[in-house]
Amino acid sequence: MNRKKDQILRTKFPERLCHWMIVLCFFLAATSGISWFLPTFAWLSGLLGTPQMARILHPFLGIAVFVGLCYMFVKFVKYNLPARTDAIWFRNIRGVLLNNHEQPLRIGKYNAGQKLLFWAIMASIIVLLVSGLIMWRAYFSEYFTIPVIRLAILVHSVAGIGLILLILGHIYLAIWVRGSVSGMVTGYVSKAWARQHHDRWADELDAKEAAPGRGKP
Ligand code: HEM
Repeated sequence: MNRKKDQILRTKFPERLCHWMIVLCFFLAATSGISWFLPTFAWLSGLLGTPQMARILHPFLGIAVFVGLCYMFVKFVKYNLPARTDAIWFRNIRGVLLNNHEQPLRIGKYNAGQKLLFWAIMASIIVLLVSGLIMWRAYFSEYFTIPVIRLAILVHSVAGIGLILLILGHIYLAIWVRGSVSGMVTGYVSKAWARQHHDRWADELDAKEAAPGRGKP
């Protein structure tokens, strides 16, 4: 197992690199999208050079986010499947939020909230991709009728705002759980962090250490 002293490898380098590439592309795609949605934020399209450049780059940035999320889906889906023990996390949500729960919550590599967020992100990006392709004037919109394009614009805007709100929640929680952001930067978390926030995952790692070669937790 990859461990430095009391540290545990939580996220491998290619997955971290992909995550932070997604963050950059998502930030630029989201800010350009907001710049067209709310006139007060029109200046945000300047982040991509000029409003014209933002118009050209926005769809490609969105596709880059989609491709990155496809990679993350393949790598992370096994940790985000529903488990019976997720119910314990939901039942103790108050204690989780107050960081004040007595019994073990049997949390695997990701908790039930993170799993919900994972699936919501994946669903949103598919809706954004399909609606975005339909309304993409340079390549595809000529194949669709005006009412279909109008519907696509509405769906794209709702899904875009929804995903931005989800990501703001994701950032807030990532900062709130101390050690989580540094885990996504360095790849490592402490054993104590793993036991405090993901007790079942910590048990699985201990079991694997005791009996190596039995598959990855
Ligand atoms: C500044 C912005 C962001 C920060 C600080 C951040 C932080 C993090 C952290 C710390 C984790 C690991 C959580 C853990 O180890 O328990 C994580 C996981 C993840 N992040 Fe982000 N993130 C950001 C933006 C995004 C964006 C824009 C997306 C996608 C559009 C995204 C998608 C994900 C996904 C899919 C995971 C894996 C979670 C799972 O498998 O359940 N993140 N993020």
